[in-house]
Order: sequence, then structure tokens, then C-alpha cells
Amino acid sequence: MKFFIDTANLDQIREAQDLGVLDGVTTNPSLMAKEGISGKENIINHYKTICEIVDGDVSAEVISTDYEGIIKEGEELAALHEQIVVKVPMIKDGIKAIKYFSSKGIKTNCTLVFSAGQALLAAKAGATYVSPFIGRLDDVSTDGVELISQIVEMYNYYEFETQVLAASIRHTMHIIQCMEVGADVATCPLSAITGLLNHPLTDIGLEKFLADYKKVNG
Ligand code: E4P
Repeated sequence: MKFFIDTANLDQIREAQDLGVLDGVTTNPSLMAKEGISGKENIINHYKTICEIVDGDVSAEVISTDYEGIIKEGEELAALHEQIVVKVPMIKDGIKAIKYFSSKGIKTNCTLVFSAGQALLAAKAGATYVSPFIGRLDDVSTDGVELISQIVEMYNYYEFETQVLAASIRHTMHIIQCMEVGADVATCPLSAITGLLNHPLTDIGLEKFLADYKKVNG
């Protein structure tokens, strides 16, 4: 399973990259706004900087909602760097645009996916990634991980190449659950990734090893 970090914060992206297990980055307009990144030039420069920090795919989201606008914005974003993946919302014009980008060899991430039917459309349009939002589904008493499982099974059955990118991950247990149902990618906050490091028996075991070493070596 690939790990993407779900942030536009450069320090956190660098920290995850330094860990050596990072496969890519996802951003969205809210995450960019949280970092205070505004204005076309600053936004473009920020995406370029992220691409220089990481080796893998970097999702950059369009803000247009009409076909022509999505195509224009997406082509501009894709031209910035070979690692850029154009993130397109799950709407009618978005699906049409994904089909176009797919025919041009431009990578896409279909975002704001909340049902298997939406994931089916994204795959048929040729999306590189589909992003079901599991945390936001959990927030409305619907099992987000169950949706990941359903989409993985459907894509396997029909042999779609679209990768299931579990998004809106809120904590470490979500990562484990996505791994259990076969998600291709989990895009996570840094805290959820580093949470995987933790186990009290590791801390107790290490303390004992070091204490025993000290007993005989001083
Ligand atoms: C990433 O691709 C999504 O935009 C993101 O995971 C949404 O997460 P949130 O539901 O925590 O805002």
C-alpha cells in the first residue's frame, strides 16, 4: 500500500519524506488555504516546491466546475511538473474532463467520492486514482472503510486500472482498516503515519535492552 501525505504544509511533507516511506502528496483548496497560500503564482510555486521535495505523485485540485474551465486549469497544472496529478471533483463535467485527460495521458485523481456508483463512473472515465472520503462518511454514521472495500472488490472484478486512494483518513486505525481491505493508497495526516510507529511493548522492550546493556558495559 502506498502512503501519500494529505497536507500542503512543507515542513510536514519534508518530515514524511525524511522518514523514507512517502509515495506522494495530496492537497485540496482547503489545505492550501490553511497554509495561507493564495494567488495563482503562489499556488503554482507551492506545487512546484512540493514536487521538488517528494519523488511521487502530487495531486493539485482544479477549482473550475465547468468542462472548459477544468480542461484549461488541468492542462496548466499538468504542465507544471511530471509528478502533478490533476484532482477533479466528482461532477458531470468532471467525469467528462477525466475522460479527456485520460486520452491525453494526463494523470487524474477523482475527488469527493462517496459511493460505489461514483467510483464506477470515475474508473470508466479512466481516472488514475479515485478518492473515497472515509472520515467524512464516518462523520455521518456511514462506514467509510466499507465503501473502500466495495470499490476494491468492484475494481478487481472488472479489472479496472484505477487505483483506490483512501482519503479523509483521520487516524492510524483507518490506515490499518484500509490495508485490510486492499486500498492501493492511503493519504493521511502526518500524525496518522507516525502513529504507526507506536507500541508500548516496543518502548518497554527497548528500555530493558538498553538497561541490560548498561548493567554489563557501564
Ligand atoms: C484528499 O485528497 C482529500 O481532499 C482529503 O483527504 C479530505 O480530508 P478531510 O475530510 O479531512 O478534509
